[in-house]
Amino acid sequence: MRLHYLPLYLVLVTLELSIIYGISAQRNVPKKPLMKSLLPSEALLSIGHYQTSCPNAEGIISQKVAAWVKKDPTLAPAIIRLHFHDCAIRGCDGSILLNHTGSERSAIESKTLRGFQVIDDIKAELEMKCPRTVSCADILTAAARDATLIAGGPFWEVPSGRKDGRNSYASEANMVPHGHENITALIAFFQERGLDMLDLVTLSGSHTIGRSTCFSFMDRIYNFNGTGKPDPSLNVYYLNLLRKRCKGVMDLVYLDVITPRTFDTTYYTNLKRKVGLLSTDQSLFSDARTAPFVEAFATQPFLFTSQFAVSMVKLGNVQVLTRPNEGEIRVNCNYVNPV
Ligand code: HEM
Ligand SMILES: *[C@@H]1O[C@H](CO)[C@@H](O)[C@H](O)[C@H]1NC(C)=O
Ligand SMILES: *[C@@H]1O[C@H](CO)[C@@H](O)[C@H](O)[C@H]1NC(C)=O
Ligand SMILES: *[C@@H]1O[C@H](CO)[C@@H](O)[C@H](O)[C@H]1NC(C)=O
Repeated sequence: MRLHYLPLYLVLVTLELSIIYGISAQRNVPKKPLMKSLLPSEALLSIGHYQTSCPNAEGIISQKVAAWVKKDPTLAPAIIRLHFHDCAIRGCDGSILLNHTGSERSAIESKTLRGFQVIDDIKAELEMKCPRTVSCADILTAAARDATLIAGGPFWEVPSGRKDGRNSYASEANMVPHGHENITALIAFFQERGLDMLDLVTLSGSHTIGRSTCFSFMDRIYNFNGTGKPDPSLNVYYLNLLRKRCKGVMDLVYLDVITPRTFDTTYYTNLKRKVGLLSTDQSLFSDARTAPFVEAFATQPFLFTSQFAVSMVKLGNVQVLTRPNEGEIRVNCNYVNPV
């Protein structure tokens, strides 16, 4: 009778051992940790990551972003751009926020980045409510979503669980496209980060809000390509307007001249009328590979807003640090944790 249970007992003991020691009972079944290591890093992000560890994290972030943007609406585009620059170099790891000597943030190319104080304010509040729990990279990602929503753009759920990186180099800041690249270089830059042409056209739609220094397109209005003439792909009325607005290279003009503060598809209709501000913006409509997407968004606003949500999640997934041995939860977004 008792012997009858012996095989079952052995099975149970083996199972227990396999759980305790992580030994798989069957060799051909991969161990769980192995499965996990085969997953791409972004698969370890999740919606509701802070549900138990810091239940109100997203609420705090959105309240803070709303309060700051209410005081200064120009902070909405600034935060969205900050998130892009973070993800563009070494992935979305909060490295753009590091303020040590020689960091990406300290480079000349990063001089026009703004909104750092918003992230610092959010971080300070979160450190009081849930110390050492919410990463700076996650804060920036969620803040970019909230800023989009406030500007009139779509809402989307933000997957979280990014860790903060410890490396940031000024020499890498010039890798972020600055408005003079050709379309082939733009496509390649996005592709290297797992983003396709549709993502390129969609995310460039962020330029429906915000401003640029004249520095970023000065060549287009006076001496394009060393020809001594303006860029022929610029609408003449727009050209004259820009010449008036740009007295100095640090003067600011809206990226979307028609509806500068509204998150809409006017950015795309502008491109069709040759009133894209940056040469890179206009090239999205000049090139046969990307023009169909511009055309689609210009005529179907819903396509743009729904795709924007999708592409922003993809941007937020770029080269994230999610494994136990990667990155840290910074205590102060400006500095790596002391060892
Ligand atoms: C496709 C390549 C891109 C290029 C070449 C580019 C270039 C630029 C440039 C030159 C500026 C103005 C900087 C200055 O003040 O002189 C700017 C601003 C901005 N960019 Fe981009 N960008 C690109 C993609 C993106 C993406 C993917 C996003 C967001 C997902 C983004 C969001 C913004 C925003 C919101 C601003 C306005 C910032 C403000 O008003 O403070 N850009 N971009
Ligand atoms: C960042 O670094 C600059 C230059 O060292 C300094 O002036 C500034 O106060 C720092 N900002 C923060 C928030 O630590
Ligand atoms: C585009 O830019 C890249 C990188 O700067 C350059 O190598 C390439 O020749 C350019 N292509 C065209 C078509 O101008
Ligand atoms: C600008 O110059 C590049 C090479 O220097 C050339 O490939 C391109 O066609 C020129 N564009 C215009 C509009 O002249």
